Amino acid sequence: MSKIKRVVAREVLDSRGNPTLEVNVITDNAVAKSFVPSGASTGSHEALELRDGDKARYGGKGVLKAINNVNTVISRKLTGMDCQSQRKIDELMIELDGTENKSKLGANAIVGVSMAACKAGAFHKNMRLFEYIKEISGSKKFSLPIPQLNIMNGGKHAGIDNDIQEHMIIPVKFKTFSEALRAGTEVYHELGRLLKKKFGSQGILLGDEGGYVPKIDNVDGRLELIDRAINNTGYKNKIFMALDCAASEFFYSDYYKIKGKEYSPGQLIDFYKKLIKSYKIISIEDGMAEDHWNGWKQLNKELGSKIQIVGDDLLVTNVDRISQATEDKACNALLLKVNQIGTVTEAIEAANLAFKNKWNVVVSHRSGETEDSFIADLVVGLNSNQSKFGAPARSERTAKYNRLLSIEEQLGKKAGFAEF
Ligand code: PGA
Ligand code: ZN
Repeated sequence: MSKIKRVVAREVLDSRGNPTLEVNVITDNAVAKSFVPSGASTGSHEALELRDGDKARYGGKGVLKAINNVNTVISRKLTGMDCQSQRKIDELMIELDGTENKSKLGANAIVGVSMAACKAGAFHKNMRLFEYIKEISGSKKFSLPIPQLNIMNGGKHAGIDNDIQEHMIIPVKFKTFSEALRAGTEVYHELGRLLKKKFGSQGILLGDEGGYVPKIDNVDGRLELIDRAINNTGYKNKIFMALDCAASEFFYSDYYKIKGKEYSPGQLIDFYKKLIKSYKIISIEDGMAEDHWNGWKQLNKELGSKIQIVGDDLLVTNVDRISQATEDKACNALLLKVNQIGTVTEAIEAANLAFKNKWNVVVSHRSGETEDSFIADLVVGLNSNQSKFGAPARSERTAKYNRLLSIEEQLGKKAGFAEF
């Protein structure tokens, strides 16, 4: 047993230059550190990210209130606790907060402490973080994930309204994670070359998740170029495509609007069907808006047997919403973001519920990220089969890929590679 002596947070910056928390869980002979990510196309049912609202600092985005909560009430409550009692630590913080959406203490405060405590627990158990997560989650084995790489950014991540947010590639037909990552990265670079040729230096500007943001208005035009990059690199039939539409961002109570064109839910599904046919799309995330359950049911009914239908804003890593979605047959895969729900324990419960329903689980970053690579250990420890960590560029993204490369090497022959 190793007792927590103190928990200390400080205000630092995320990859967008917005303030976030660094949290340190201090034990007798260790300091375990975490950094808290932050979304832009945030689901309205997510746990609440507490911001100061004081316009005189960072335009109101400061996190000093959340930091104060860590340094005072949370630290006092956790002092003396065994850092290996992850569930107890998380439950105590949930109780201390007492609200439905962690709005009193702030989900950003709570999740930072939860992740740092998890790292402290692993250290004192003399385990690598992914091994410790395997143990506390009850998962049966390790596996390296198939990566979803977001190589062209749109929507909120590129400052564009009414737009598809993410155009991703999935290197499926490879024997190892490192091979899949290499192939995906080669496509990313080839896409950069094609864009530079077509649009000059304006074509290779990057969005929040490291993907290119060329001036191509129609989705077809974007996917066509990605398809060409896949073919040029010789990965036809080995690398497929995926979309995160983030449809809540272009939903107007009963219709959707993409690039000035309006779609009824049925027309939107037909639009997706056309794209799937033309571009080997094998996964669509948030194809419908977060509370448009009928739209989701229809989408999953028409496409769920053919491709992966992923719920992000729909599910917000919340077991109640996942249960509802399994009952309604609204989707067939979970996007898992620890900060959407606010503790490691609850995120593990969400993943386990999804596994129980034979869903795929995609462990995901946020568009605002940091150097913390916690989610790389999480995806391996949970034995979930996919990761979504952005483009293979920008250090806040490559920190996760590089950690996965390291884990793959550490595990050697024991490193299983997931199947799609
Ligand atoms: P967010 O985007 O982090 O801005 O919410 C990521 C996603 O939608 O998957
Ligand atoms: Zn999403």
